[in-house]
Amino acid sequence: MSPKKSFYFFFFIASLFSVLSSFAPCYAEDERIEIELKDTAPMANPLKYALGDAEYDKAIKSGEYSYSGNLKCRLCHRDFFMGRKKDLHEHTFKKSVKKHRKETRCFPCHSTGYGIESGFTSLKETPKLANVQCEGCHGPGSKHNILGAKGGFLAGTDKPGTIKKMCQACHNARWDKSYKDVNAAYEVYKNAEAAATLK
Ligand code: HEC
Ligand code: HEC
Ligand code: HEC
Ligand code: HEC
Repeated sequence: MSPKKSFYFFFFIASLFSVLSSFAPCYAEDERIEIELKDTAPMANPLKYALGDAEYDKAIKSGEYSYSGNLKCRLCHRDFFMGRKKDLHEHTFKKSVKKHRKETRCFPCHSTGYGIESGFTSLKETPKLANVQCEGCHGPGSKHNILGAKGGFLAGTDKPGTIKKMCQACHNARWDKSYKDVNAAYEVYKNAEAAATLK
């Protein structure tokens, strides 16, 4: 190939790559996203699903429960905080909802406490509650933080059935790829190093 021809050839290949890569995200997009966005069923509320309407309403009305964010938890549970750094729950907003960060439909399962006062509202207003943090599974931590001891959670370790329902509220029939056995996946989370043992 003459130098001129090879230059054009190189240019052709390079532009082909840039055109293809600009389309790549469309191919990679999960088809469930379109289905989710068209779904007219009420938005998910994991805490409400886990507690049931009556208990949920009572808890919310009491005004005793609010979300603190995981930096609070780090104060006393450094092992869990560090152990969760690689857990996808802790990164899911940026990883999976990036392109749809304005679609509120995605928030209940990819952030902490969306739809509940003091919970996540938007990346701009409440960046510290993005992703599924500690309180995304255990429920709002305000009461527990004051006690500085066991208890105070709506989905604490004294209520394993409730935490399991939290898992199932987000990992529903549509979004069911993460695990096959909820009991086995649940057991893993008893350890501070959950993320490390998942794969
Ligand atoms: C002021 C210290 C303190 C803070 C802040 C704190 N915890 Fe705790 N937590 C404790 C102590 C003490 C225990 C009881 C001993 C143990 O199990 O490690 C405990 C126990 C727990 C338990 C097991 C018992 C139960 O009630 O279910 C969970 C789950 C838990 N904490 C989660 C959290 C989360 C999530 C946060 C942040 C919202 C948090 N903690 C913030 C001190 C704290
Ligand atoms: C508030 C919603 C929510 C709750 C509650 C929740 N999850 Fe998830 N989970 C997610 C999302 C979203 C992802 C996907 C993360 C990603 O890839 O962006 C995920 C991912 C996972 C993964 C894959 C992690 C990996 O590293 O591959 C496992 C396993 C999992 N969840 C188990 C559980 C279990 C067990 C529970 C209950 C104890 C639970 N989840 C509770 C939303 C939730
Ligand atoms: C009912 C809860 C729920 C809602 C609503 C939801 N997701 Fe998810 N999403 C999950 C769970 C759980 C996972 C992990 C399990 C899976 O991939 O099936 C997940 C995983 C993902 C993944 C990663 C898929 C993969 O294979 O790595 C993407 C991307 C995603 N969600 C985007 C979205 C977008 C965009 C929306 C809003 C249109 C949305 N999700 C709404 C629960 C939800
Ligand atoms: C994906 C859901 C999920 C997330 C996110 C999560 N946990 Fe848990 N956590 C669990 C489950 C499930 C258990 C076990 C409950 C039981 O004993 O039956 C548990 C147990 C605990 C315990 C008690 C451990 C023991 O030895 O009894 C503590 C403390 C705790 N979590 C703290 C945290 C903190 C702090 C964070 C955030 C850094 C966090 N968790 C994030 C699901 C989660």
